[in-house]
Amino acid sequence: MPPAPDRAFASDNAAGAHPAVVEAVIAANAGHVLAYGADDHTQECEARFRDLFGADVTTRVCFNGTGANIAALATLMGTLTGPHHAIVCTNWSHIAADETGAPERTLGTKLIELPSPDAKITPEMVESTGHLQGVQHHVQPGIVSLTQPTELGTLYTPAEIAAVCDAAHRMGMLVHLDGARIANATAALGGDRTTLRSFTIDAGVDVISFGGTKNGAFGAEAVVFLDPMLATGSEYVRKQVTQLPSKMRYLSAQFNALLHDELWIELGRHSNKMATNLHHLVAEIPGVELGTPPEVNSLFPRLPHGWIELLRDWCFFWDWDVTVQQVRWMTAWDTTERDVKRFASGVRAISGSADSDR
Ligand SMILES: Cc1ncc(COP(=O)(O)O)c(C=O)c1O
Repeated sequence: MPPAPDRAFASDNAAGAHPAVVEAVIAANAGHVLAYGADDHTQECEARFRDLFGADVTTRVCFNGTGANIAALATLMGTLTGPHHAIVCTNWSHIAADETGAPERTLGTKLIELPSPDAKITPEMVESTGHLQGVQHHVQPGIVSLTQPTELGTLYTPAEIAAVCDAAHRMGMLVHLDGARIANATAALGGDRTTLRSFTIDAGVDVISFGGTKNGAFGAEAVVFLDPMLATGSEYVRKQVTQLPSKMRYLSAQFNALLHDELWIELGRHSNKMATNLHHLVAEIPGVELGTPPEVNSLFPRLPHGWIELLRDWCFFWDWDVTVQQVRWMTAWDTTERDVKRFASGVRAISGSADSDR
């Protein structure tokens, strides 16, 4: 008999908030402070992002990831020469696949979705849009949006992102990085601020959606304009796209807790490690097609017929591709070794390869 099912591997946004974030929000809940960002918590948050990326960056705190992407992209669109520009991304990108057409609706912009087996965009893919340029019957590629780590849990190296940025900039395009899980990427690629800068500002990225929600926040994302020229008007655009929080102190306080003493990187590292551990334990079990070890905090195994429902009695998880019984197991900042062992023992029990040792 499996134990009561849990949700430890459902998603990183199924996890709660880190205690330090909870404490920071409680501490911010004192007295009257001015709204819309004119508060000490937001000043501190903006200073922390300047400390991370450099004195010239502009940070706009937002409510959620979709909204941060829209605020970032809408601001970039405003800096382009007209509304005939399009956004180049992959078919897997969150903006294309999981935002209910929000970019198309709110920006009035076409997305050029390029097929990609690993959810990564290459310089060649960017260059492949060159035939559209200068032809009045076509949208004009204006922005490249890439996701790091990708929606398939793959990672770009800093050099790969630099090459995409070079290609985009050569073609007169701007680069947006969806970093909903930027902590996982930072932890996986080296685990310090230099690593973060190596695949963002040093690689030539123009603007980032910097995620907090999937990494221990209640709900907070930040749009960080790395090129100061591109931030012009971003305060107005954020309001227009309904991402200006009046009680901003509560969102900023969450980032202040996460950015303090590199907690955000530590949480990303832990989450990645739990995914690696799960991979190791399940790799020994016959029947599971796991693929290569996870680069960040998600596994996309294929399971034999009949296993998925049985395993969901141990823990809920999402389908990925039902046609091939592929599912997604995702770890979070608070996933424990015990969660990992328990879930792996569920897989083992269903495989019939050994008794469950939960
Ligand atoms: C890559 C990526 N970008 C952005 C988001 C933002 O999501 P939300 O609008 O739900 O905060 C998500 C959430 O799943 C995501 O995976």
